[in-house]
Amino acid sequence: MTLAWPVDWCPSAIHPALAHPAVLAILGVTSAVVVIRPIWNRIRPIPSVPFQVPLPEEAKPGWKGGAILPNPSIRDPAHPDQIICYDPSTGRHLATIRAHTKDDVHAALKRARQAQAKWAKTTFEQRKIVLQSLLDFILENQGSICRVASRDTGKTMIDGKFGEILVTCERIRWTLAHGEDALKDECRDPGLLMFYKEAKVEYRPMGVVAALVSWNYPFHNTFGPLITALFAGNGILIKASEQAAWSTTTYFAKIAQTCLAACGHDPELVQFLVGFQECGEAVVTSGVDGITFIGSPQVGVTIATTAAANLTPCVLELGGKDVAVVNKDVDLNAVAPVLMRGVFQNCGQNCIGIERIIVHEDVHDRLVEMLSDRIKQLKQGPPLEIENIDCGSLTMAGRTKGLEDMVQEAVRQGAKLVHGGKGFVHPQFPQGQFFTPTLLTQLKSHMTIAQEESFAPIMAIFKFSTLDEAISIANSTRYALGSNVFSRNQKEGLYIMNNLRAGMSNLNDFGASYLCQSLPFGGVGMSGYGRFAGPEGLRAVCHQKSVTRDRWPSLIQTFLPPVLQYPMNNVGDAIVVTRDLVNIVYNGWFNRVKAVVEIVKVIALGGNEREQL
Ligand SMILES: *[C@@H]1O[C@H](CO)[C@@H](O)[C@H](O)[C@H]1NC(C)=O
Repeated sequence: MTLAWPVDWCPSAIHPALAHPAVLAILGVTSAVVVIRPIWNRIRPIPSVPFQVPLPEEAKPGWKGGAILPNPSIRDPAHPDQIICYDPSTGRHLATIRAHTKDDVHAALKRARQAQAKWAKTTFEQRKIVLQSLLDFILENQGSICRVASRDTGKTMIDGKFGEILVTCERIRWTLAHGEDALKDECRDPGLLMFYKEAKVEYRPMGVVAALVSWNYPFHNTFGPLITALFAGNGILIKASEQAAWSTTTYFAKIAQTCLAACGHDPELVQFLVGFQECGEAVVTSGVDGITFIGSPQVGVTIATTAAANLTPCVLELGGKDVAVVNKDVDLNAVAPVLMRGVFQNCGQNCIGIERIIVHEDVHDRLVEMLSDRIKQLKQGPPLEIENIDCGSLTMAGRTKGLEDMVQEAVRQGAKLVHGGKGFVHPQFPQGQFFTPTLLTQLKSHMTIAQEESFAPIMAIFKFSTLDEAISIANSTRYALGSNVFSRNQKEGLYIMNNLRAGMSNLNDFGASYLCQSLPFGGVGMSGYGRFAGPEGLRAVCHQKSVTRDRWPSLIQTFLPPVLQYPMNNVGDAIVVTRDLVNIVYNGWFNRVKAVVEIVKVIALGGNEREQL
């Protein structure tokens, strides 16, 4: 066989033997393994198992069943063990569900523990197949998931697409792409004394963890912790809010369990619980291995206190009073729509929703005018009954009075109510729980509405003249979750951002830090502690196990010289040796050499130097 190899142009470079087909074949295969395999591992599709979950009747288009409750309420005092589920935008009854009891919780934990014992032994490859199958289901059923979430909470389909679908897909994508790296053994510096050791951290699943999650994103708040827990090798108990009991039990729980079963795993690995305070308490005291809680500071404190009895570690995400600081040089046409979404996304029921806008005096009046024009045009109503709704309903009943009082108090203290400020009775849907999109200006930090999370469609605007003034307004609450700064001047923008007390900050954007699921989510102060999402989130559901072993086991192992062995026959020598050892490792070069000489003397010659005892 003649080779087409151009040996002529550089005859000395390649030895004829190297141009032999066998050698070339070996080189080819080696380079394929070295170069192509890692690339292929990155881009290769992960297998996915298709599965189906029937969409509940109540979420189908045109559903008109279910009596309209005259006075919608989640709980009937006559039947305290039942959850009355209804569409908060119409008052239509969806289902009445039995609240889970303490016994249910303990039984659920037992089943999850059994399933987890097997799950802990699965490979990342197997876990990835589960997540990929889940992702494919979500992609196929985006509309259904949003309809179910909307039916249960009164949110619009767009709010669902952003807050339920997009972020969940990104959580899965990030976990598939980077989760394994975040959990692989991490080598650490063993130090000079232990140079012959390998030191590393292993991330081991905690076991069965619990997530007690809020109702504002019933799909995402459930699946976020679930994705993280499962990928790290845990089982999980999910205590959904009673406000989201219908969507959780009739659809979301089935998605998770069907997915696991379809992939050949035990669906009992994930347990869904719905109920009131008793149920939550039972979960916290059940002996789960870790707790993630999303909710109010008040309940967060109770959970941390209760969990402390078993020393169960907690991650607490407790809401915020997030700011958007708007500097004088911004393009108002670009910023106004972002602020609108930041405030009115999910009807203001958003942990990182913008609750305070702090605007430079030069652009204040113009911005208020632009925002006011937009707010006046917002269309409110039941998102599944009427087309083109901007703001849905509030999910929790009975909030109108408290919000109205808070607005009125601010007005009495000098704030200006530009729009809204009241509950809204929809002419066709009088049982809907609506609050009129509200615009308040001239706010001051001491007002209640400037301090307490409103979790409602209320835009609250402050004015500032110096950057430091803006920072001190922003810093003035006990909350410190997210924050957003808008400034064309990067230097000023960064100055503000660097001085904000917050767990997260975005320059010239809103919510970007959550769309980057590679970043940890969490707050400072009364916004809680611990982080979910990103590598920190995965590691938060793991035990961190520190491990050492010999680097060259046949060459060198820890050896205790006779002078240091119990029983000691010469404590004075032992003290000299240990002192010299410390000097050898940590002292300057001169002292190190001195210490080596001394140690040799003591060990080899039985030494005569004595440390003062
Ligand atoms: C705001 O809080 C940050 C972080 O705690 C701090 O560094 C800064 O000095 C505070 N600034 C003001 C004006 O309160």
